[in-house]
Amino acid sequence: MKLKALRSQICLLLLLLFLLNFSLVFFTPSNQERHRMIHRIHSDSPSSRGNQHLQELLSKAASNDSLVHTRIKFGDLSTSLDRIEGGLARARASILEAIRSSSNHQRKPKGSIYFNPQAFKQSQNEMKKRLKVWVYKEGEQPLVHDGPVNNKYAIEGQFIDEIENNKKSPFSAKNPEHAHVFLIPMSVSKIIRYVYKPRRTRYDYDPERLQLLVEDYIALVATKYPFWNRSRGADHFLLSCHDWGPRISYANPKLFKNFIRVLCNANTSEGFLPNRDVSIPEVYLPVGKLGPPDKAQHPNKRTILAFFAGGAHGNIRKKLLKRWKEKDKQVQVHEYLEKGQDYTKLMGLSKFCLCPSGHEVASPRVVEAIYAGCVPVIICDNYSLPFSDVLNWNKFSMQIGVGRIPEIKTILQNVTQEKYMELYFNVRKVRRHFVINRPARSFDLIHMILHSIWLRRLNFQLL
Ligand SMILES: *[C@@H]1O[C@H](CO)[C@@H](O)[C@H](O)[C@H]1NC(C)=O
Ligand SMILES: *[C@@H]1O[C@H](CO)[C@@H](O)[C@H](O)[C@H]1NC(C)=O
Ligand SMILES: *[C@@H]1O[C@H](CO)[C@@H](O)[C@H](O)[C@H]1NC(C)=O
Ligand SMILES: *[C@@H]1O[C@H](CO)[C@@H](O)[C@H](O)[C@H]1NC(C)=O
Ligand SMILES: *[C@@H]1O[C@H](CO)[C@@H](O)[C@H](O)[C@H]1NC(C)=O
Repeated sequence: MKLKALRSQICLLLLLLFLLNFSLVFFTPSNQERHRMIHRIHSDSPSSRGNQHLQELLSKAASNDSLVHTRIKFGDLSTSLDRIEGGLARARASILEAIRSSSNHQRKPKGSIYFNPQAFKQSQNEMKKRLKVWVYKEGEQPLVHDGPVNNKYAIEGQFIDEIENNKKSPFSAKNPEHAHVFLIPMSVSKIIRYVYKPRRTRYDYDPERLQLLVEDYIALVATKYPFWNRSRGADHFLLSCHDWGPRISYANPKLFKNFIRVLCNANTSEGFLPNRDVSIPEVYLPVGKLGPPDKAQHPNKRTILAFFAGGAHGNIRKKLLKRWKEKDKQVQVHEYLEKGQDYTKLMGLSKFCLCPSGHEVASPRVVEAIYAGCVPVIICDNYSLPFSDVLNWNKFSMQIGVGRIPEIKTILQNVTQEKYMELYFNVRKVRRHFVINRPARSFDLIHMILHSIWLRRLNFQLL
């Protein structure tokens, strides 16, 4: 009796395996896959109001007439892609509904750190409910499936490890057929560290080596699986905090035309596209820690108006140091701190922390300042700030143009106590979005990165 039951179960299993195999063969790259269209849920021209990016809708707290034109199509759910697109269409609809109902309220919450708090919350909920990320398995450590987990490029390793190795992550796809987005799990920092050695000639700095490695990986997965070709890379991404991150696409812009580059070095003068790429903060992690010690003081105890300490990297820092280095008690600008002085403590004692760009636009100071309850003063050109689809940086930071470096003191002294307190409390509020947790938690930095990728995926539909 038992044996018979077992035998029929085995038969069933074999049948299932056959069907599975069949469906894999059936759904793998046909011509139809190759001709799939990427339908952008908005036009690329900013002038046409009716077809904005969803991420723009979130940031502009849109009025309702711009919503009506956003096309939503529910698929017939007959293939896995239809199921994915059907889910995304529902997510879009519910986020747009949140935008619509919030724009019906006359009174907007004043001074919010979000452009649209309701839409942001709804979008995060939808993301947690639905988003699945597939990490390609190909390749070996240290160039693939690994990354630094300490120092200033730590986010590369922390992110790959969280998405790839946290088996309980709600975002890990069990099967690539279920994935909304695909991670190319390469670390630019590790490639620079292991491939660019020894450095003797100019060729040893040639970005071509990096470019060929990434392109080879993409060619491999595009040949083996249908996913790259069906979206022409639009649902694929790579995360890099290294200065060289943006260079992966320079040699072959056509291949990367739709690809999502998730970068710390989000310099819009170097081809960073805010609607396609994702800007992430640079976070300095000491060995074995997920952040610096908390030395934030109460606002009444903050005796320093503005603080900066750091090397003379790049033109902006040179200008800052030339004008302010060791020249003012209230605007404390140091190239190097004297022995015995505590960087984190000084940030905790300052009202404003100066965050000028260095060799790249991003600086770990922005996050260090936020951790220390110090209002970041961002001094940069053409930097696309992290998470600026949803976060209103004007509510928790100051931005001073490079040309106004000499006026820093007057500008900051001019900030009223009331305005400063508002900025201060908003810095405390926004802090949770810049904190790294392992495993990741709702609304923390890793979820914010995923949310930026999620918004870009919501921006198009694969037909
Ligand atoms: C929203 O739509 C309604 C009906 O279509 C319209 O009467 C109202 O003026 C719109 N509100 C805004 C802010 O555009
Ligand atoms: C994807 O396209 C490339 C280039 O056109 C081709 O070489 C590759 O075989 C395609 N992949 C699949 C899985 O069909
Ligand atoms: C941003 O890119 C431009 C153009 O390449 C460059 O001149 C500038 O120095 C970059 N900014 C930073 C801070 O590296
Ligand atoms: C910043 O971008 C603007 C407009 O794209 C450009 O005119 C300007 O030269 C850029 N600044 C730098 C420092 O690259
Ligand atoms: C000082 O603040 C006032 C209003 O807050 C503003 O109009 C003025 O331009 C500011 N002055 C400087 C030097 O920033």
